[in-house]
Amino acid sequence: MCGIIGYTGHRPAIPAIVEGLRRLEYRGYDSAGVAYEEAQGLQVIRAEGKLGALDQKIAGLDTASSVCGIGHTRWATHGLPVERNAHPHMDGDCRFALVHNGIIENYAELKAELMAEGNVFHSETDTEVLVHIIAKGVDLTGDVRRGISWALSRIDGAYAFALLSREHPGKIWASRKASPLLMGIGTGENFLASDIPAFLPYTREVVFLDNGELVEIDAGSWQVFDAASLEPKAKEVRHISWDVQAAQKDGYKHFMLKEIFEQPKVIRDCLAGRIQKGRVVLPELDALEVPGRLTIVACGTSYHAGLWAKYLLESWARIPVQVEIASEFRYRDSVFLPGDLVLTISQSGETADTLAAIRIAREAGVPILGLCNVVGSSIARESDAVVYTQAGPEISVASTKAMCSQMVLLLLMTLTWGVRKGSLPDGALQRCLEDLPKLPEALERELPAIRDKARTLSQEYSDARSFFFLGRGQNFPMALEGALKLKEISYIHAEGYAAGEMKHGPIALIDPHFPTFAMALGDELLQKVASNLQEVQARGGRIIALVNPGAAPVVEDPWVLPDVWGPLKSFLVLPAVQLFAYEMAVYLGKDVDQPRNLAKSVTVE
Ligand code: M6R
Repeated sequence: MCGIIGYTGHRPAIPAIVEGLRRLEYRGYDSAGVAYEEAQGLQVIRAEGKLGALDQKIAGLDTASSVCGIGHTRWATHGLPVERNAHPHMDGDCRFALVHNGIIENYAELKAELMAEGNVFHSETDTEVLVHIIAKGVDLTGDVRRGISWALSRIDGAYAFALLSREHPGKIWASRKASPLLMGIGTGENFLASDIPAFLPYTREVVFLDNGELVEIDAGSWQVFDAASLEPKAKEVRHISWDVQAAQKDGYKHFMLKEIFEQPKVIRDCLAGRIQKGRVVLPELDALEVPGRLTIVACGTSYHAGLWAKYLLESWARIPVQVEIASEFRYRDSVFLPGDLVLTISQSGETADTLAAIRIAREAGVPILGLCNVVGSSIARESDAVVYTQAGPEISVASTKAMCSQMVLLLLMTLTWGVRKGSLPDGALQRCLEDLPKLPEALERELPAIRDKARTLSQEYSDARSFFFLGRGQNFPMALEGALKLKEISYIHAEGYAAGEMKHGPIALIDPHFPTFAMALGDELLQKVASNLQEVQARGGRIIALVNPGAAPVVEDPWVLPDVWGPLKSFLVLPAVQLFAYEMAVYLGKDVDQPRNLAKSVTVE
């Protein structure tokens, strides 16, 4: 939700900032803006709409001499997505310019106070309140650092912000609480950003900022303070192995397509070093007891990965599992038992609701295991143990390869706990360890054909206004994921349903214009699914069904996937539903990587 960036150094700031914003645009894209230093003072340029609109405004300006600035790409929370609400915002005297990600919860009360003191506001945003209150703090304390500290003591809510001061050329201040912010440390230049790809072309040396920290940077130095006491804090500089290419489209038309086609590599990367001498190597779990009961908490696609894992964990590791939507879990009065473990799953590691769930578990004294993709993210840092998914940067708003990586790691966790409990079915470990490493090659071979079929079918069904996605067992979460992908990027209404539940109401919707996308793979539930599909056909419903060669139900559009063993089937089902949604969105002319109303990282509740 919103991307922020700051640059101070030796190169022209604006091109570096705009390039960084392009890499952060997945976080929000309803408006964008930059502020930079010039001889006459701070300049602010803002534009409604995507970054291209800002680019056009900047194109006519001579910004080359400015070597310090900040930028923002917005996902609206307070105020319409129009230029006056775009960031950066300034105080009344234009002494400060500020970009912000998060929500200032007590902004209305602070705004009333500031207005009573004569301040004039030009936007409906909470952010404008933040820059005004900081200006007031600086006036009261006579110093920027102390002024920010004072202002933050007045603020409730979540924030990551970066601030320029007209009186201090070359300097940027920033702070965070519950919204992501990190520093990129270069040579003669330093960066601040919401996410690593923003500065990846310039440096891979990163400092992750913690809640309640305040940072001051210039071209040659950086310092971190406790925002309340202003005591200096020592921070570790970490080297990030992601490369620039991983954060680029690499010849693909969309990030989503690239990321779907990266799944074979993702599986390889997730398995690297994890299978040795017939065993699963997952030392991250060593310090944790095998859970007596597992509560998986996540949102969106990560939630579906958790649901998928529940079937395996219960059957193979005999661990009772409940899978919870984080936004519900956080406001329920959950009952915890001795031996419980909370497992949070998140690609970004910054999802606000999932983070809140961690805090609830912590208060209840329940150990927390994080499964996430972004090294050093909040969820990673707030968990007792963390397993990283090795998916590389996921840029497309629609999550694809992250789910694949989560499934691999969840499978390895199941095997680890199953071995420790002695509960694995005969041959399951050996079969997994033999077949998992073969999966990337099989997937590489099959992906082009899956894409072709997805393209043909999406065109054939492009007039549908609604879809059911049906599956049983582990294909039920796959059905939920297929429906989420389709609605998220093609804006076609879709419902994922447990196939056996259709007859309890939803089947009333079926008619020749309401098609069904079914998972009818060759597993032990195939006959049950086949009966459910007959019920759909009996009501005139058209069906696309993912099937394996051999005994498949007779439907209008069978989509044959090669057969692989047991739970590994899902690794072929997943790209099929992803590519179906992708091709549908492309055919309908939708903005695949940046679907309307969404943002990649949901850091507000
Ligand atoms: O970063 P997270 O995995 O915590 O994100 C969770 C959801 O916001 C995310 O999966 C979302 O549902 C995706 N846009 C789905 O494609």
